[in-house]
Amino acid sequence: HPALSVSRAALLPPPGGPGDAAGQALPVESRPFASYGSALHIALPQAPRAGQLLTLLIDYEAGEGPGVCWLSPEQTAGKQKPYMYTQGQAVLNRSFFPCFDTPSVKFTYSATVKVPEGFTAVMSATSWEKQKDNTFVFKMSQPIPSYLIALVVGDIVSADVGPRSRVWAEPCLIEAAKKEYDGVIEEFLVVGEKLFGPYVWGRYDILFMPPSFPFGGMENPCLTFVTPCLLAGDRSLVDVIIHEISHSWFGNLVTNATWGEFWLNEGFTMYAQRRISTEVYGLPYTCLEAATGRALLRQHMDATGEDHPLNKLRVVIEPGFCFFLGVNPDDTYNETPYEKGYCFVSYLAHLVGNQSKFDAFLQAYVNRFKFQSITADDTLGFFLEYFPELKEKGVDSISGFEFDRWLNVPGWPPYLPDLSPGQQLMRPADELAELWAADSLNMEAIEAVDITGWRTYQLVYFLDQVLQKSPLPEGNVKRLSKMYPKISKAQNAELRLRWCQIILKNNLEAEYSKVKDFLHSQGKQKYTLPLYRAMWGGSEATRALAMETFSATAPQLHVNVQNYVKKILGL
Ligand code: BES
Ligand code: ZN
Repeated sequence: HPALSVSRAALLPPPGGPGDAAGQALPVESRPFASYGSALHIALPQAPRAGQLLTLLIDYEAGEGPGVCWLSPEQTAGKQKPYMYTQGQAVLNRSFFPCFDTPSVKFTYSATVKVPEGFTAVMSATSWEKQKDNTFVFKMSQPIPSYLIALVVGDIVSADVGPRSRVWAEPCLIEAAKKEYDGVIEEFLVVGEKLFGPYVWGRYDILFMPPSFPFGGMENPCLTFVTPCLLAGDRSLVDVIIHEISHSWFGNLVTNATWGEFWLNEGFTMYAQRRISTEVYGLPYTCLEAATGRALLRQHMDATGEDHPLNKLRVVIEPGFCFFLGVNPDDTYNETPYEKGYCFVSYLAHLVGNQSKFDAFLQAYVNRFKFQSITADDTLGFFLEYFPELKEKGVDSISGFEFDRWLNVPGWPPYLPDLSPGQQLMRPADELAELWAADSLNMEAIEAVDITGWRTYQLVYFLDQVLQKSPLPEGNVKRLSKMYPKISKAQNAELRLRWCQIILKNNLEAEYSKVKDFLHSQGKQKYTLPLYRAMWGGSEATRALAMETFSATAPQLHVNVQNYVKKILGL
């Protein structure tokens, strides 16, 4: 990566053998590969024998690259000290250290990190040790792909929240973090182990990142990184934690061999997340959460067009040397691998027809491919091998549901899992949205519905329905806002996102400042881009709002998110 400068490469003598410890210097050359990195070529003195172990030493310096984020004190919660974090997925760690930056290669690692006085370093590693002189030593003893190596250095402290879990955060957030997750993590791990087999990573810790962290969560092994938006105060956003825990089996243990099959990570993880959620919170609640996921997929496909090439589970990724040629793996991050992937895994479960048999299959699948990187052909081949009676029946080629079609044809999933067990929670929200969409409001009927006891995801579902019906007849949204301060003044990020979308779709100018405030308060990609798209697709006034907000917040956003917003705004 251009942000990395390699000063020297050397071949080290075999361990224990004779030779210069500094090694034999080797010629290094960078050759073009893609817009997001180049190929590092190191010439060996002679061709290696098959199976020969070589040790290379590479001296390099990493600066301001997309994988390494340097934050000023103002960009942290405490506003006192600077902060740095790395984000590897999908192909950003090549700007952090030289590596085989593909998920098809797995390795162990160790790192020695020296930091200034008053700072703490943490990494995605199985062991962590503080030595003298502010030096931290890390070791990851299980093989992982390059994108899962992660480092944070900042003013951070920790608190125990379970027998193998602690939360990490800046000192001013640690109390809130402990309160939000104390005593809840272990149950998810235990249920995960019961369903999918042993948790192999030792600890499961959670690190609360600064507000500009571009994701809800990132499943760095042993240490999940999460947005501080998860500190909702009522544990309502734990589904993100369950999701990241599920990656401990799907993604981190069994890994997509290429980013073209990212759905193998995310689709299986969505399925695993909802299996754990069903065991812990029951089917109705889980179906409600899945319905909000389906709404996101609908919105995404409406926005991009169903037959967009990225709306396939198997995406063609081409390096390309200019930004308009080829597909960058990081650009394939959208709802399709998650929610269409979830539908495909649900379809496989439907073919089996028995939940415990399918659970047993998932556990066998993890056991068969753990510590490996695989393709969808491996997954589906194993599925048919595991269920020979289904293979016999030719379930891979049922007309309209061919495995090949699932993988290679863009568009809406051919099969949708039944979410009707969620009806008891969704129906009241559907009915209320219906009432609010009427030309003349039936206030008596509206007032008869008491939403004070509704769960966050019920409100989210309700708002998605309102959004779908928007713009509502003149004046309705204004009244809705007045009637439900619980929604229009919400601090919960999922509610704020929906409320902002409703404000924009209904041109509720009086509340435009809420959109601005929300975008100032955090930089998650999945919140930021939909709002800029809505502003840019709206009126003169919302376009101005977009420009004004972006010029104020751009420096705080992750560079990838900045670039996506620029694209939306035509900058
Ligand atoms: N691994 C992803 C985040 C990611 C994807 C980072 C692609 C970089 C490239 C993580 O597990 C994830 O999916 N996070 C979701 C939350 C989840 C509940 C769907 C997110 O950030 O929204
Ligand atoms: Zn994920």
